[in-house]
Amino acid sequence: MSVLSPVESYLQDFHQRQAGATSAAFGHLRARSSVAEYASSYAALAGCVPASAAPLTVLDLACGDGYLLKLLSDRQQSSLRLIGVDMSQGELDVARATLPKEVELLKERAQEMPIETGSVDCLLSHMAIMLMDDVEQVIKEVRRVLRPHGQFAIVVGRAFLLGEANQVLHKVLLPILREDASPLPFGDARTHTVEGWTELLSRDFEDLQFEDLDVDWEPNPDELWESLTETYTIDRLSEPAKARFREELLEALSGLQQSDGTIRTGWGVRLIRARAK
Ligand SMILES: C[S@@+](CC[C@H](N)C(=O)[O-])C[C@H]1O[C@@H](n2cnc3c(N)ncnc32)[C@H](O)[C@@H]1O
Repeated sequence: MSVLSPVESYLQDFHQRQAGATSAAFGHLRARSSVAEYASSYAALAGCVPASAAPLTVLDLACGDGYLLKLLSDRQQSSLRLIGVDMSQGELDVARATLPKEVELLKERAQEMPIETGSVDCLLSHMAIMLMDDVEQVIKEVRRVLRPHGQFAIVVGRAFLLGEANQVLHKVLLPILREDASPLPFGDARTHTVEGWTELLSRDFEDLQFEDLDVDWEPNPDELWESLTETYTIDRLSEPAKARFREELLEALSGLQQSDGTIRTGWGVRLIRARAK
């Protein structure tokens, strides 16, 4: 792999320490939009792969610990060729231990994949492209490996937490970040909006569809805190800042607890589908 940027080096280090953190956060939660409900945000992507007897090559870009590939391999659809690409060895080790040997796993960067031009029927990606450097090059590479009219389907972040908990979190976190964090420039700001994605995809893709998904979750404060420590923003705080954030956040969230002690919140994500021109 070529020389990594500061963001990529951090991501590799994080995913070495916290392999499987994303599927632990999202895999067990249902996702719903105004038009559909899915067993999870991963299931929403798996549903984009046709249950057809025709041979299909599916690439999971930034596959992490292989959770999405496992959903697809569990279908026992013998016509599927499954490939996962990720740059983090820690995640790929977990994926290798979980997935059948027929699933191909490649340690590569999305910006330059050793995959034949026009060889992929469906390219999927869950919670990753919005983190990547040089997203224009990533999209160029995605288009190169897809066959004409191939399916592109990704889930990206839309909001951090859902509901009032998000406002509370930001109110507590912002002053701490101002004092503590050394900002890392994750991804391209265009990946945060529908307009930005439209600009990025329109040249090489058609039939763009956007579906906002709420991944509902009602954790107790400890579960919420545990999950937050496995996010990049909180992971990068110093230990004193993390301790201060925990104390102030749990205090501020106590007003939102339901009678059983849980907090109604979730993760806001966006499902994007398109066809390669
Ligand atoms: C939040 S995790 C998501 C993992 C998995 N898709 C999931 O949802 O369970 C982001 C993943 O993107 C990978 N990643 C980030 N930038 C990448 C790049 N440029 N090329 C390949 N993988 C990348 C990281 O190594 C990490 O596994």
